[in-house]
Amino acid sequence: MSTFPIYRPRRLRANENLRRLVRETALSVDDLIYPMFVVHGHNTATEISSMPGCYQYSVDRLVTAAKELIALGIPGTILFGIPAAKDPLGTEAYADDGIIQLAVQALKDAVPDLLVMTDVCLCEYTDHGHCGVIEDSEVKNDPTLELLVKESLSHARAGADVIAPSDMMDGRVGAIRDALDENGYENIPIMAYAAKYASAFYGPFREAAESAPQFGDRRSYQMDPANTEEALREVALDIQEGADILMVKPALSYLDVIHRVKTEFQVPVAAYNVSGEYAMVKAAAQNGWIDEERVALELLTSIKRAGADMILTYFAKSVASGQWSVTS
Ligand code: PBG
Repeated sequence: MSTFPIYRPRRLRANENLRRLVRETALSVDDLIYPMFVVHGHNTATEISSMPGCYQYSVDRLVTAAKELIALGIPGTILFGIPAAKDPLGTEAYADDGIIQLAVQALKDAVPDLLVMTDVCLCEYTDHGHCGVIEDSEVKNDPTLELLVKESLSHARAGADVIAPSDMMDGRVGAIRDALDENGYENIPIMAYAAKYASAFYGPFREAAESAPQFGDRRSYQMDPANTEEALREVALDIQEGADILMVKPALSYLDVIHRVKTEFQVPVAAYNVSGEYAMVKAAAQNGWIDEERVALELLTSIKRAGADMILTYFAKSVASGQWSVTS
């Protein structure tokens, strides 16, 4: 009979109902974590110029923003703090009246149903802007672990639901897990920034969190963008040390890494769609060069298709509301 191929792929693309039925990847509000920035003060929401639609909130306004997340059905937020003062050891990071600790208490009090994750790192709190203790002009690994443990315990005492270390010091997941367990927080999960690359895509975040390194860069602790096998070793180590959720960051230039982590380890994988990835879409959309909604949904779908179970993204509210250019 016909020599034409029997399988005609276009048959199942003919209309939206067929396309819905055969669609392999679904992006859902269930997958989203919305990052928020919190500062001292009262009744302030300052827009971050390189991240339109994202704000540095005072604690009271953070609570209002958190209520909006609940209304949109977003499961969780991850918090970043901007301290009142910075010093060489990042003291406010582990002060029980530090900005994150106050924010977590307020959120757990006013919006208990929102999952509150806290980023554990020192770079927002140190005057040199590095993620660890500096000795002899170097970021020292082991002395930093003690401070990260103090910070994690302080977040847990404030009521954090998930602890998310982002510093990339060796051994920190194990140290934090031990300390949480010894202090009665054995049920608090750790989401480890396991494969975190030394990326130029964090630029806008460093404006938002006021955390740019004052000298040098982060290449002696964050990963070289050229490496994949090393990412798998990092993930294996973090699993061994007790991490519950394994993160790859950034997301878009590292879809292959997300895919390999998901296929080689059957663990929950998070991907961080970082500030620079957000800013690029926003800037091009503001110029009328791309359709923001379609581009953002395509990018987020690609992150899920690569294997991420959850996505930390500044687009979370837009996705959940279906309204783009959200302003609050
Ligand atoms: C803290 C931290 C950073 C980000 C998350 N946690 C910045 C950095 O490592 O310099 C970046 C997030 C983003 O760009 O959206 N270490």
